[in-house]
Order: sequence, then C-alpha cells, then structure tokens
Amino acid sequence: MILLALETSCDETSAAVVRDGRVLSSAVSSQIKLHAEYGGVVPELAAREHLRNLIPVVQTALRDAGVQPGQLDAVAATQGPGLPMALLVGFKAAQAVAFALRKPFVGINHHEAHLYSPWIRLIATSHEPGSAGVSPARMELAGETPALPGAASGIQCVKIVSGNFPSPVAGVRGGNAGGIFFADFAAFQPNVSLVVSGGHTMLVKVESELKHRVLGSTVDDAAGECFDKTGKLMGLPYPAGPEIDRLAEQGNPKAYDFPRPLLNDPGDDFSFSGLKTSVRYFLRDHPGILDDEQRVRDLCASIQAAIVEVLVKKTIRAAKRNQVHCVTASGGVTCNRALRRELGRACEREGLTLQLAEKSLCTDNAAMIAILAERKLFHKVPATDLDAEIQPGWVLT
Ligand code: KG4
Ligand code: ZN
Repeated sequence: MILLALETSCDETSAAVVRDGRVLSSAVSSQIKLHAEYGGVVPELAAREHLRNLIPVVQTALRDAGVQPGQLDAVAATQGPGLPMALLVGFKAAQAVAFALRKPFVGINHHEAHLYSPWIRLIATSHEPGSAGVSPARMELAGETPALPGAASGIQCVKIVSGNFPSPVAGVRGGNAGGIFFADFAAFQPNVSLVVSGGHTMLVKVESELKHRVLGSTVDDAAGECFDKTGKLMGLPYPAGPEIDRLAEQGNPKAYDFPRPLLNDPGDDFSFSGLKTSVRYFLRDHPGILDDEQRVRDLCASIQAAIVEVLVKKTIRAAKRNQVHCVTASGGVTCNRALRRELGRACEREGLTLQLAEKSLCTDNAAMIAILAERKLFHKVPATDLDAEIQPGWVLT
C-alpha cells in the first residue's frame, strides 16, 4: 500500500509518503523563524503559511518518493488536536485528494501518532550503504528547497532518498537522522509511553497496537511550554527548548534548586506552571544574573534538571506500576539530550527496554501520521468520512 499523509496541526507543514511500513519520503516546512518574532505561534500566520507551503511540500514528498498521485492507495491527515485554522488546511486538502482519487481517507489524532512514532526505526544510515539488507540510502537536511514553483522561501525538507540516486539537493546531512526508516511493529511490546512536546505532556499505557489508555497528562503547562516560557523569561529566542538544551550542556544542574512539581504525587499527572513561576521569582530576586554567561548556563542546566527529573521518575514509576518491560518516548522535548540520557540510565537501572523516537521524528512530521494511518487500515479500522470535520480539541483517552 502507498499512502500520502499531511500534517498541519501547528507550525510545521509536512507531507510524507509511506509504502508497507517504509517511509519513502518526509518533507517538513518549519515556520519557527516566522513565529520567533512574536515569541510563540500566531494561529492566523500559521494557517496562511500552511496554505502557501502545502502544495510545494506535497510536491516534494511525492517527487522524493518517486510516486505519482495516481499510484496512491490511501490518503491521511491530522484531524486534531491542534490550531483550528491550521488543521483545516491539511485536513480538507487531504480529503479533497482522497475524493479526487476515490481512495480511502484516514483522519488521525496527532497525539496517537506521536505515541507510535518510537516504532519507526532507522534501519540503515547514509554511512552504512547497503546495511540491513537494504539499498543504499541518503538523507539531506536541506536549508532551502530549490526550483519548486510557488514555494515559499525557507522550506526545510527532511528528505529520505533510497536507491542509488545522486544527491538531489546540496545540504547538510542529518546526523542520526540520515537513512531508511521502517515501522517495526514486529518488535512491538506493551509499554508505557511518554509523549512530551510544546502542546502536550502525557503518560500512556500502550497494551497492544492501537490499544492504549492515557494514565495522566499535564494539568497546566506542557513540559515544552515550560522550556519555552522560562527561556523567554531569560530572554532566549523562541522556541527556547533547544537553546536551553545547548546552554545546559556546559552548566551545573545542581547550581540552583527548583521545585519538582507533583514528583511525589502518586498519580501520573504533571504540572509545570509552578516551576515557571519559581523561575520568574528567582530572576526577580537575582538581578543581573542574566549578564553572567556561566550563571545563565547553570540556570538552564538547573531548570532542565527539574523538568527531566520529573519526566523520568514519573515515567519509570508508571512503567513499574503497570508491569510493562518497555518505555517509549516521543514529541519535540524528546530531542532533549539530558532527557534521552537520563531515561536511558533509568531504564538500564530498572531493566526496562527503552525505545526513543528518532530525533528527526520527535518534532511534528507527517511520517508518523502516515505510519499510523497505514496501521489503522491494516487492522481494518474503518476509513474516515470525506465530510468529517476537524477536531481541534480531540483528547486522547
Ligand atoms: O512536537 P513539537 O514539534 O510540537 C508540538 O506538538 O508542540 O514540540 C515542540 C516543543 C517546543 O516546546 C520546543 O521547545 C521543544 O519541543 N523542544 C525541546 C528541544 N527540542 C524541541 N525542548 C527541550 N530540548 C530540546 N532539545
Ligand atoms: Zn506534536
């Protein structure tokens, strides 16, 4: 089966083509630079950018996959949750494509797609051509997509190209992200999954494929939001998560003691707004601290340590209580090096298997939407009506 999926729930316009579990292409146009000026995502601007970028992004995904629209067997899109006007762009476009091609359409819950994204594995890197019994693969992280009519500037494309192609775009090769991605559901095991990004922080028990139950979620800010808002207080650019991660690498995580909200609460819910407030008071009480580079690094490391400790300890505790042997993690904050490191250490200590989403698939992307849609069709989940509406407030249960 060849399936095209679109993702436009927030500030990334993305399209991906998958075939039988294999990601043939994944194009992502990020709007981060546009929204950075305003310190957060501006919904109207996001929708306008999706409208502008959707066609070039889809063209890129189809071109890189070597697939013509007529070859598609199904179409999918994010149905919710997300920004209403942003969701509408991708969802209605995907329904129109499905209608025109007379193919099944699948509306996907964005959080559910994150949940299964750790099973999309990198099976061959650009540095290991022909490994794992597959053809040579190459991936470019291109700054600009060239020569696409109507393309807005600044399109960032994650291009997964398989076969003996010459490099189509001069660009930077994407670290651990370069290669062939395959959804390895044969390796699936029951797990407790941490889904953690700018809009959501949740712990979910995944009993079997497509069968899951949310154990807890944030009662206020998401962990990514906490990174972004505390970073903003420190004058860091939006989104501050990656910047705090970078500065924290040279900081002392024990320099300042910040609260670990709900750490000792027996439930699986999270709360991060208190931590943000305590950073605000800390900055008020320590005027001039932001002028000292090392103290800023220490501050970043200390804030990060508080967030990471809560996420890791609560995830491990939920896994043990639910008697699973596997932990998974996904969502933008899973890019965070300290979180990846500490989850790794804790799982090793507790004898748990850890399945982290590949970094390039942690932030929003259509590849995870496509893979979940394909699994739903594989498991005979009924297709979504072509006149179905977006569900901006769709809560995963
Ligand atoms: O999954 P995502 O792209 O979008 C949402 O669905 O929210 O996640 C974006 C979030 C932002 O809050 C960003 O600051 C955070 O993920 N993030 C990070 C890192 N990379 C992205 N947070 C901490 N460390 C990072 N390296
Ligand atoms: Zn997301």
